[in-house]
Amino acid sequence: MKITVIGAGNVGATTAQRLVDKQLANEIVLVDVLDGIPQGKALDIYESTPVEKTDVKVVGTNTYDATAASDIIVITAGIARKPGMSRDDLMNTNSGIVKSCTEASVAQSPNAILIVVSNPLDVMSYVALKVSKFERHRVIGMAGVLDTARFRSFIAMELNVSVEDVSAFVLGGHGDSMVPLPRYSTVAGIPITELLDKAALERLVKRTRDGGIEIVNFLKTGSAYYAPSSSAVAMVESIVKDKKRILPCAAYLQGEYGLQDTFAGVPVKLGRKGIEEIMQIKLNPDEQAALNKSAEDVKQSIGKLKL
Ligand code: NAI
Ligand code: 2OP
Repeated sequence: MKITVIGAGNVGATTAQRLVDKQLANEIVLVDVLDGIPQGKALDIYESTPVEKTDVKVVGTNTYDATAASDIIVITAGIARKPGMSRDDLMNTNSGIVKSCTEASVAQSPNAILIVVSNPLDVMSYVALKVSKFERHRVIGMAGVLDTARFRSFIAMELNVSVEDVSAFVLGGHGDSMVPLPRYSTVAGIPITELLDKAALERLVKRTRDGGIEIVNFLKTGSAYYAPSSSAVAMVESIVKDKKRILPCAAYLQGEYGLQDTFAGVPVKLGRKGIEEIMQIKLNPDEQAALNKSAEDVKQSIGKLKL
């Protein structure tokens, strides 16, 4: 198993470190345009392996030769948000970056599975799909695992229970109109709608939607990366180990949930082939309307792309 991580910034380097710590590959390649940064970070991570007792080769590079024949490619390259910026503000810069990274990496690894992290997530996933010309089950966006992790954290904090017992559900685009679904979110199997009143639910849903900007406003110089890298690695792990976990991921939809030719966060089965199934659940009219609105926002952004 060989995994390439493109972008050796906060998300990329932390993803590489977590992949090595979990020994999810024999070789990890970290790529960035900045001279010395991927080389230095890769060497530093490799030097942690004797201490962590993890036999993983870690390579840092500014070119793509060393990425050849990767099984999975995680794309984190691009600029991150600063206070006052929306994810869509990143679109013009990051679409060019994601396009060039996709072209260069898939030329070396035509059979890889692409996991896109760069923002705006759903639009960048679309860029990677169109540029790679891969089948849709091999191009997957990371956002739902992060958004549900935030929702789960806030539910656990509110009810003072272990995060382990909380599962949550978020659909739609990774933006302000994402759709956290309390009806499908539970604590040890008990729907949170039984445990929290309407006002508390609305507060937690809003905090989840604003989860990204909450961190940006604290950090001021960039955006979240610990929970995002954990989330990307959870997806990698399900693929590498063929676990067939059901995780909320951005998938290219062709009729599912009534949506066409767009990416949206939906529950998918992730295994060795990538997306092995898109799970369709019953939505009530309000939930479907919220998902439609979120998907429409993504479609409008896709419409502005110059590929
Ligand atoms: P960062 O600024 O720390 O790192 C980005 C790295 O990309 C930099 O090292 C930069 O040199 C590199 N880069 C730029 N152009 C490149 C190219 N053409 N080829 C290779 N590398 C290139 O940013 P951070 O925090 O790592 O975030 C990365 C991206 O991930 C941002 O777009 C951010 O918005 C997004 N993100 C998405 C999340 C999600 O849930 N989908 C969560 C967190 C971040
Ligand atoms: C987040 O939600 C920046 O999209 C990223 O933290």
